[in-house]
Amino acid sequence: MSGKNSVFRTKSIAETIAETKSGGKELKKTLGAFELTMLGIGAIIGTGIFVLTGVAAADYAGPALILSFVFAGMACTFAALCYAELAAMIPVAGSAYTFGYVGLGEIWAWIIGWDLILEYTVAVAAVAVGWSGYMVQLFKGFGITIPVALCNPPGQNGGIVNLPSVIILFIIMCILIRGVSQSAKLNDVLVIIKLTVVILFIVLGIGHVKVANWNPFFPYGVGGVFKGAAIVFFSYIGFDAVSTAAEEVKNPQKDLPIGIVASLIVCTILYIVVSAILTGMVPYQQFHNNAAPVAYALARVGINWGSALVSVGAICGITSVLVVMSFGGTRILFALSRDGLLPQLFSDVHPKFQTPIKSTLLVGIVTIVLSGFLQISRLAEMTNIGTLAAFCIVSISVIVLRKREPDQERPFRCPGSPVTPLIATAFCAYLITQLPTFTKEVFVIWLIIGFAIYFGYGRRNSVMNNK
Ligand code: ALA
Repeated sequence: MSGKNSVFRTKSIAETIAETKSGGKELKKTLGAFELTMLGIGAIIGTGIFVLTGVAAADYAGPALILSFVFAGMACTFAALCYAELAAMIPVAGSAYTFGYVGLGEIWAWIIGWDLILEYTVAVAAVAVGWSGYMVQLFKGFGITIPVALCNPPGQNGGIVNLPSVIILFIIMCILIRGVSQSAKLNDVLVIIKLTVVILFIVLGIGHVKVANWNPFFPYGVGGVFKGAAIVFFSYIGFDAVSTAAEEVKNPQKDLPIGIVASLIVCTILYIVVSAILTGMVPYQQFHNNAAPVAYALARVGINWGSALVSVGAICGITSVLVVMSFGGTRILFALSRDGLLPQLFSDVHPKFQTPIKSTLLVGIVTIVLSGFLQISRLAEMTNIGTLAAFCIVSISVIVLRKREPDQERPFRCPGSPVTPLIATAFCAYLITQLPTFTKEVFVIWLIIGFAIYFGYGRRNSVMNNK
């Protein structure tokens, strides 16, 4: 089954690590545990908590939103433990994709890689649209009104193009072409700002919580909690971006698990507290169609200066998500190309900047087009389905690899395996079922296109095929 020509052919771990050091395609090593945790938080806290919280409270879960966050957080925690084991064992760019290659075989790896391309590019586009919304609000606060035609996609409020999101993505593409070191430093500053405003919201908001606003707690029934979880899952996406930086980490075996787990723990705690305070401050119905619920809640209780500060912080926070997610997307393309599943030009490293310049350009251009011309809600749902599917395959890889390579060194072991990976798979698969039918249909089409590319190009050109 896993012979040289099989679609289930696998790579050995040693071979996978060795490949990163050959052919002049090695990336510069500049990151440690702290930078990785910052990279994780940079990718995690963004449009989800600042924008989608309101949607989920108003339309799906009501005050029970807090339980949606707990449920989605549990799914991510179990998946993160699986990620941490594999990232420490196989510290190579490409994250889940590479794990699938080693664990389950090429076809599964391709499916994960293809899902991750969807996750990262569509997420970046969705997040940029959220960024644009806050920016437009901020400009309004200073008396500058951007014409609706230039800050909405076609088909929404008379829009032609979402120009602010196009501009920010262009700037980020240029930063990433210059190199990871600069972008990691910029990310640190942005993360500190966003953590400060989230804590500021908690401190300012907690005294304004009215228990009456939590009643009824389940206005949409218990089912609403899970539908809400399938949406706010978006808020947690990003911890996996830590492992896409594996080849640029100084001590990956120790630092990667710390980076993944620490960033997820910090964000989960903050989300649960923020969602409880948010729904306690304002009746959940008022978040309907609200583009800036966190800032709105503070303004609603009369803290206008806090509301303005939170808006500025949200813009910074969302910017850091854009940087890390764009970075992750380029590294996935880099890994797929280095393995021959996509054309080799995407793994060319720029001689001076040592960054994968063509992958960065491709991700940049595609995200610019998506964010300029599509609406945020569909983009967010598509992101979630691609990510959840990849998480399922990653979790199963842990079980398969424990069986097939029991003696391989595992600097971090996912506790409770195989139960933990199985629970992760069950949680993620269940969340997929809670997404809208349209999203599932588009996802199936995406997979069909992926199979066409694999059988039309990747299978033949795979480095594994030509060894
Ligand atoms: N978790 C990221 C966000 O919420 C994608 O923006």
